[in-house]
Formats: sequence, C-alpha cells, structure tokens
Amino acid sequence: MGWGPNKGRHAVPNMTHGEGVYLFDDKGNKYLDWTSQAVCSNLGHDLPEAVIEAAEYQMRLLPYAYGDIGQPEVRTRMNQLMNEILPGDLRAAVYPSSGSEANEAGIMMARRYTGRQKIISWYRSYHGATSNSSAATGDSRRWLNGDSTPGFVKAFNPFPLFFKPGGQNSTEAEMVESSLVMLEEQILNEGPDNIASIMTESVLGAGGCFVFPEGYMQGIRALCDQYGILMHVDEVMMGFGRTGKMFGFQNYDGVVPDIVTCAKGISSSAVPMSMVACSGEVLDFFEDKSIGWGSTYQGHPVAIAVSYENTKYILQNNIVGRVQAIAPLFESCMQRLVEDHPCIKQYRAIGLFGCLDVQDINGKNPKLQHEAAHDAFFEYKKEFIRQGLVGLHRYPHIHCAPPLSITEDELIDGFERLDRALDVLDEALGFHSNHIDQNNDEVAAV
Ligand SMILES: Cc1ncc(COP(=O)(O)O)c(C=O)c1O
Repeated sequence: MGWGPNKGRHAVPNMTHGEGVYLFDDKGNKYLDWTSQAVCSNLGHDLPEAVIEAAEYQMRLLPYAYGDIGQPEVRTRMNQLMNEILPGDLRAAVYPSSGSEANEAGIMMARRYTGRQKIISWYRSYHGATSNSSAATGDSRRWLNGDSTPGFVKAFNPFPLFFKPGGQNSTEAEMVESSLVMLEEQILNEGPDNIASIMTESVLGAGGCFVFPEGYMQGIRALCDQYGILMHVDEVMMGFGRTGKMFGFQNYDGVVPDIVTCAKGISSSAVPMSMVACSGEVLDFFEDKSIGWGSTYQGHPVAIAVSYENTKYILQNNIVGRVQAIAPLFESCMQRLVEDHPCIKQYRAIGLFGCLDVQDINGKNPKLQHEAAHDAFFEYKKEFIRQGLVGLHRYPHIHCAPPLSITEDELIDGFERLDRALDVLDEALGFHSNHIDQNNDEVAAV
C-alpha cells in the first residue's frame, strides 16, 4: 500500500528495468519518467558505475556499523564533502534514512536546542509521514493522521488559495510585507518564547512549485533572529540541484538557515538516505547532550558510500550547471502548454521543477483538497500513460520534474507527450482544445 487506495495497484505497470530517463514494464512498454518518480531519481534509472562500485566496495568492506558504536571511514569523508558544499557554517550532523526521519531529527534538534516546543510551518506544505513531520505538514495528508500531535502551528505563507496578502491589487513587495506582518503577529500570539523553529520548504514542492517572492525568506530569517527562533529549511525535494542551485535556499540572497534537512537527491534515491545539517553553534550545543533522535539505520555505511559517490558525480559532471542551462527550454515548454491548453491556467517553474495549474470551464480550481478528483483527471491519467509517460499526480496541479540528466531532445519529446495528454484533459473538462482546432480544418471552420 502507498498514499493512494490499495486497489490502485492494479492500474500501475510492473516495472522491469530502467535506462536513462526511461522505465520499461513487463509488457515491453517504455515510459519517460516525468517526475523522477517522487522527484527523487535525479540521475535517472541507470546509475553511474562509480556509485554502483561504491556500494559493492562498502558491502564487502564494512556493510554495517551502528552509528553510536563505530564511525566508518566513509562517514568522515561524507562529513567533509557535505561541509564543503554546505554554505556558511552549516555542518552535516545526522544521516537518517528518509526525508520524514530527517525532519523528525531536525524538529528534535530545534526543540532541544531552544528548550521550546512549538514548530511553525505552512498550510500547503509537505514534510513527511512520521508523527512529527506529518504534524508539520500543511496539506491534506496530515488529516489522515488525525492532527493528534501537539506543538505544531500552521501559518499562511504568501500563497493562500483565495486571497492575496496585502489585497488583490498589492505589489509583490506589499504582499511580502503583509505576509511577514501576519506571521509576526502570529508569532506574538503563540508566544515567541514558545517557538522552537519556523519550518519551510525552500520551494513548496508537492504543494505546487511555489518560489518565495523577493524578500520573504530574508524576512523569515530576520524574524527568527529577532525572536531566537531557529530557521529550519526542508530541502528534501529541492536539495542537490533540482532548482539549478545545490540547495534551494541558495535562490534567496543571503539566507542561511540554522537547520537544513535533505534526502532524495542526496543518493538520487538509489538507497534510502537523508541528512540533517545545522549551524556550528547548534552542533556545538549537542557536544554534551543528545538530540533525542536515533535509528538503527542512521549513518548506514552503504547508504553513505552511495550518497558520497552520487554527490561527487553531481559535482564532477556539473549537474547543477546543466540544470541552469536547460531551465530556459523547460520554462518555454511550460509556457507553451499554458498558451495551447485552455484547461491550464498558469505555470510556475524553477530549474527542472515546474507545475501547471488546471482550471475548470469557469476558471475555478477543479479539485480542492477535500474533494474527490473530477472524472476528467482519470481520462487524462489514462492518456498520460498511453503517451508513454509515468509520474506522480497531485491534481489540480500537474508536476513536471524529469531527471536532472535529461537531454534537450528528451525534454522536448516529454513535453510533446504531455501536450497530447492535455488535449484529452481539455476535452474531458469541457473545453474546446486549441490543438484540435489547428489539426482539423472542419472543426476550425465551424
Ligand atoms: C519537502 C519534503 N519533505 C519531506 C518529505 C518526506 O520524505 P520521505 O518520503 O523520504 O520520508 C518529502 C517527500 O516527498 C518532501 O517533498
């Protein structure tokens, strides 16, 4: 079972192997991976030899050592490498096995360091599925957990659904100012001395590719400094190159968080692996105290060996530079889909991560979080697969996040397949597809 109802298993292909950005099923079908699985298979589906060899070498050398009993040599190397790529005085501190666990450890770290309990995070965020990371989550997956974990406060970020901070006609600067004033008032109402951290994705990922406007993250940093709150940036989805920077928060000038959590791209998801990094000051605090989090598999030598080589590969092959270079093409393809498909209201994109917002015939959101998906999405999904695409679906958003290793030709091909799938969505939602007009004179004449 996964996030969806279990009967969904009958509708997914049985995958046999992968090659580059493609996956193959047992019926011989070839699919282009349009969301790098869960935005995590960043190097595609065949790994660099060095990564495979590192796993094999570590399995022969020392397959496992418990973090508190022995320090494998590869962990020391990994610490050095992470400390080189992390900006400011951020230091690698913990290596759990998933993004959720990294956030659990990051939350514990903030609570223990500050001696405070409350964590502020946003509506429309996702931080994981374990109790605290799920409680920090702002999207509907949190509801399934019954909202039964105390100590979590939800705030609006600058992207509410039905209003714009500062008023409908506000400029971006006014909107940012208004969002920050609203947040500060919330901090004062919660009691600044009760708040351990403000937790935010660097770019809202599952929630729909929201990049914070100029000045907002700097404002969060300033509020944290003013009230002694730690700034915890969740890089689980954006870290390791997705946005065209090694870490997503590097898109915001001058912002260095106190706690950074990473997963997914750190190993390109070839093995379960995550990381919590923190400032030197926070790290020093734990010299004679426990953070109160641990796991059998934290600091797993094989996972670290794979992640070390994966990171070296990213650096040596300038994957971040490749993302920057291909980003304009990615964005122009997204723009084209907005122009060609009346069911697409708008797009947002950064690096190789983007999102299309679907609208209904009245220009409204066709799927609020508490609503079942419109039948049109089932038609669309069938066509998406028929066009040879696989990916995650989070309606009313359509995420585009192919592997960072994708070539220009593969990217264009992927967008052409999506384009054809969107023709079906246009029709199923009751729009008249522009494409059909272009391709069919008879229809155009009418
Ligand atoms: C921003 C963010 N944080 C945390 C998580 C949870 O990571 P995991 O599924 O590895 O537990 C995710 C997963 O998608 C994520 O996107």
